[in-house]
Amino acid sequence: MMNTPSLLLAAALLPLLGGCDTLAPEKITAATPPEPAWVREARASATALPPKLMAVLSTAIQASGPADAIDVCKEAAPRMAQAASAQSGWQIRRVSLGNRNPKASPDAWERRALEAFDRSQKAGVAPAKLEHWEVVTENGQAMRRYMRALPTQPLCIQCHGTADQLGAGVAQRLQQLYPQDRATGYAVGQIRGAMTLQQPGPLDETRRQTVNELLKP
Ligand code: HEC
Repeated sequence: MMNTPSLLLAAALLPLLGGCDTLAPEKITAATPPEPAWVREARASATALPPKLMAVLSTAIQASGPADAIDVCKEAAPRMAQAASAQSGWQIRRVSLGNRNPKASPDAWERRALEAFDRSQKAGVAPAKLEHWEVVTENGQAMRRYMRALPTQPLCIQCHGTADQLGAGVAQRLQQLYPQDRATGYAVGQIRGAMTLQQPGPLDETRRQTVNELLKP
């Protein structure tokens, strides 16, 4: 049975809660206003970088094999993210729940998003579509935050797959460069990590939206 008085109370309180950053996640419905322009900007930047990085990696693998390409990735990935950050006005980096580079460890917000991406991927959502954006307040400053999942593709397996799938010399090179590597054992289709972008933004945009929310009851 529905409890009408408490429903009415909730309805009366909703407008009061509207500007607060603890807003419950919204479902994407016809009533959802169009997403702010910054989300499209962040999405464009997050989508532009991975193919560029993949092109550099493929070229390096073809030229000198996967073990030597590890050095290229180590140097090129952070440099390309820095260049894209300078160009776009977004702070751009990559993170993973099973990170290789110790600096690619997610913060609490990123961790929640990555965990939600994993749940959605396991529930059958196409991993390339998984994204999450939100305006959050951090140390009194509103931050626009955007994340986009990076699915494991066949190319990735030679450096991120199970021990028997790693390319020639890859395991040894990884051991030298990343003694605390946690980024192997992935299968095609799993979420390898995510692009994560942020920039300061005005407080009045506190809304959140994610493909994952569609899956919540
Ligand atoms: C030639 C080996 C190689 C291939 C192929 C490769 N990676 Fe990586 N990956 C690396 C290395 C090395 C790092 C650590 C880079 C650094 O130090 O920043 C890394 C780091 C990452 C990170 C950052 C988080 C972390 O674990 O440090 C993500 C995300 C990632 N790779 C995704 C992918 C995806 C997706 C693919 C396939 C499209 C892929 N990688 C293919 C070697 C590779």
